[in-house]
Amino acid sequence: MNEATRRTLIPGEYRILHGGDYNPDQWLHQPEIIEEDFRLMRLAGCHTFSVGIFAWAALEPEEGRYTFEWLDRIMDRMAEEGHRVILATPSGSKPAWLSYAYPEIRRVTRDGQRELHHGRHNHCWSSPVYRRKVREINTRLAERYARHPALGMWHVSNEYNGACYCDLCLEQFRRWLRERYGSLDALNQAWWTAFWSHTFTDWSQVDPRDGSIDGATVDWLRFNTWQIADFYRWEIEPLKAAAPEIPCTTNFMAGDGRMDYARLAEVVDIVADDQYPCYDAESPGLVGLAWDFSFRHDLLRAARPDRPWMLMESCPDTPQWKYPPRPKQPGLHRAEMLQALGAGAEGTCYFQWRKGRGGIEKLHGAVVDHAGHEHTRVFQTVAEIGRLYPLLQPIIGSEHPADVALLYDWEVKWAFECSLGVANRDQAYRQVALMHHRALRETGAAVDVLHSERDWRAYRLLIAPQLWLLKPGVAQRLRAFVEAGGTLVATHYTGCCDDSNRCFLGGFPGEGLQEVFGLWNEETDVLPQGATEPIAFSARSPFAAGEVVQAGPVCAIVHLRGAEPLATYADRFYRDTPAVTVRSLGRGRAFYLAAQLPLDGLRRLYRHLVEDLGLTRAVAAPLPEGVLAQRRIKGDRVWLFLQNFTPEPRSVALHPGEWRSVETGSIYVGTLTLVGFESTVLECRAAR
Ligand code: GLA
Repeated sequence: MNEATRRTLIPGEYRILHGGDYNPDQWLHQPEIIEEDFRLMRLAGCHTFSVGIFAWAALEPEEGRYTFEWLDRIMDRMAEEGHRVILATPSGSKPAWLSYAYPEIRRVTRDGQRELHHGRHNHCWSSPVYRRKVREINTRLAERYARHPALGMWHVSNEYNGACYCDLCLEQFRRWLRERYGSLDALNQAWWTAFWSHTFTDWSQVDPRDGSIDGATVDWLRFNTWQIADFYRWEIEPLKAAAPEIPCTTNFMAGDGRMDYARLAEVVDIVADDQYPCYDAESPGLVGLAWDFSFRHDLLRAARPDRPWMLMESCPDTPQWKYPPRPKQPGLHRAEMLQALGAGAEGTCYFQWRKGRGGIEKLHGAVVDHAGHEHTRVFQTVAEIGRLYPLLQPIIGSEHPADVALLYDWEVKWAFECSLGVANRDQAYRQVALMHHRALRETGAAVDVLHSERDWRAYRLLIAPQLWLLKPGVAQRLRAFVEAGGTLVATHYTGCCDDSNRCFLGGFPGEGLQEVFGLWNEETDVLPQGATEPIAFSARSPFAAGEVVQAGPVCAIVHLRGAEPLATYADRFYRDTPAVTVRSLGRGRAFYLAAQLPLDGLRRLYRHLVEDLGLTRAVAAPLPEGVLAQRRIKGDRVWLFLQNFTPEPRSVALHPGEWRSVETGSIYVGTLTLVGFESTVLECRAAR
């Protein structure tokens, strides 16, 4: 894709989006505050605002009586100021009159109780009444504002999440299953319901709340994502009918495990995420947390390679739900924003523009404090970003190429997590993926995080941590990748179950992968907490011959069937059996990390592979601990985004060429030293 074909977040808008959630509906009784907001927006360099997210009660105070006049004024004022509005549909929070007039729109809990009217984000996904009311208000919003010059994007609802267990939702689940499996017999087979005499004889007996059938748990979560995507489609119909060219999105919580955001990314026009890393300069976990968010960025960007993504919400200070609530320390807000832009974002917005006076978010960080003026530390931090972004405007439309793909799949995660008898506690599926990602990214190489149905043929290195569940065709595509010359790194817990979480027969890994890796994984030992297993490397490995690494807790016990051992276990009853192997197949290689390598072991492995394969890196040498680097490229222009998440100075080896600071114009050649918590953007022409 080139510059000409890459789209901007808002059609025709060539600024990096900067602004936030704006709730003038809370201040209609104090117009002077709203007036002041517009003065402060200019000073902060903010120009993109999500409006009306929780404004249903202000837009329709009683059934059928609409009061759009205040929103007309806000929209007009935004247009006069040259601002863009991400206009919300208000379904995220229903007004009290609606909840009381139609109790069936409230959710039913897992144990069958209809909820009270409370909180937000808790409507039933299937209720025909709620759908009709949402359709009515969305249609009115669409018809009224579709041609408004301030309208840039639709913010559909808010942080869709959660499940409803009312009869309608359960019935819809059964319909979804009928479509997926065709017959009750097929469902009984897929879910292995002969277990504990669970065989269904009628569809009405099917209930997702029976945790003993783990195939049902996976399907319920799949269904939940489908149901939410279906609700989203329902919401956008009138928006698209009135303004087909205006992009629609909904804000994700992509760190959350209950919904498949890679799927949701496929139905929205723009991938928009809400992120609250709460970086704390004094926290020993800061660097790990920064890598954790980088993983999320690499996933969000790769989910939709045709478009940039954006931070719909972030916090300029500290959210009130964070304990202890420490003010965001100097340098960290800038680092957080540049980290997102470096990873392909082209907009960073805040929750929230102004602190409200009451409610449980009154102390949540905001651009404008209760003090009400611009003379606050936080406001000035935001204004600094507001001055920086115009200098970064040329990055709009640039690419973020990667030679490496890492497979991370919510369906695999759910299947793994609901299987008893594996090391799946404490988010182990995610944690292992994070470790591989970090070790790889620390080499300076870029990585796209993909679900397992994506096409990975264009990558050189494919990392598949704990690919427990194999969807149809995945094993064959892994094989084809290796045969065509790709390098595959897989681990313990690969290819154990099929799409319905039923174990493969004939030994692990299943579906022909024993041939690809050249081994059979007979047993798996999970060591007690704190214990490790020494593994010793051979001369052919990336480690020095005889070098010992402490591995675990997972130690898969394998038998070679054509693979070559690179390391062997040194202790316990399986000593001298292979712990790390490689198999050459066709023109490629398949590594199997039977033993769970610690971060340091993975670092060495990926350094070796990145060098051996000659993969492109953002910088000339592996990154110093705590520094993150990313490249964005457009034509012959390369931008290098660097953040130092440590308090100490760190030196980075630059690729040959003259690197110019986007802000100061200073030129760097060879090395750049970042002081503690410094982040910067350099540009170079024709350097790769
Ligand atoms: C979420 C919501 C916002 C707000 C913030 C607070 O991201 O979308 O409305 O509640 O959390 O951190």
